[in-house]
Amino acid sequence: MARPLAIVGGAVPGVLLVERFLRDDLGANPAEKLEHFTGTVALVTLLVCLTITPLRRLTHLNPLIRLRKPIGLWAFAYACMHFSCYLVFDQSLDLHEILHDIVKRPYITVGFSAFLILLSLALTSSTWSITKLGGRRWRGLHALIYLAGGLGVAHYLWSVKRDATVPDALGMILFVLLGLRFWRRPNVAQRQTNLSGS
Ligand code: HEM
Repeated sequence: MARPLAIVGGAVPGVLLVERFLRDDLGANPAEKLEHFTGTVALVTLLVCLTITPLRRLTHLNPLIRLRKPIGLWAFAYACMHFSCYLVFDQSLDLHEILHDIVKRPYITVGFSAFLILLSLALTSSTWSITKLGGRRWRGLHALIYLAGGLGVAHYLWSVKRDATVPDALGMILFVLLGLRFWRRPNVAQRQTNLSGS
């Protein structure tokens, strides 16, 4: 039940955005609104995806793991929409300008790097890819999602001109999630060894 909910639920921000667009309710600069909204949703969805593993560990609800793929793919879908906004509205699909921007403007380079990571994770999200790559290599590759999150936060921080409260808060959340990911409770055998040693 939770998986279909994640699959359908990921569309909600996009549907709300389209509804506001149709009502002509995107303010004085709809293109900017679309770009900022899709970027923010991509990053927040990515962070939601990163909460699954710690949440599963805390609750021992193993089926939660099945939510990771649809949520991760939604993060990628919003990143694609965000990138498309940039390509069309900011650069009018001028390939030369786009390449120049990616190379010359650090916050675009960082955003593009995050996008390339999300692309590689989306392309290898199938069961076929796990079999082909082998579990160890696949897990190593998919650990790059944390790097994508870090680059996404850095890209956001770099792009804000005034109030950095939201990117700062997202950065803190990512930091906590990283801590939870790499913090392991000592298992029973370890605890017994520690007790007998003390
Ligand atoms: C494909 C490469 C990317 C490009 C070219 C790009 C470009 C941009 C641009 C031009 C802005 C607006 C900056 C401004 O108005 O001053 C922006 C903002 C933003 N981008 Fe990206 N971006 C990319 C990838 C990403 C990715 C992968 C994420 C998320 C994981 C992301 C999240 C954001 C966020 C959160 C904002 C700020 C939104 C706001 O101010 O409300 N971007 N990006």
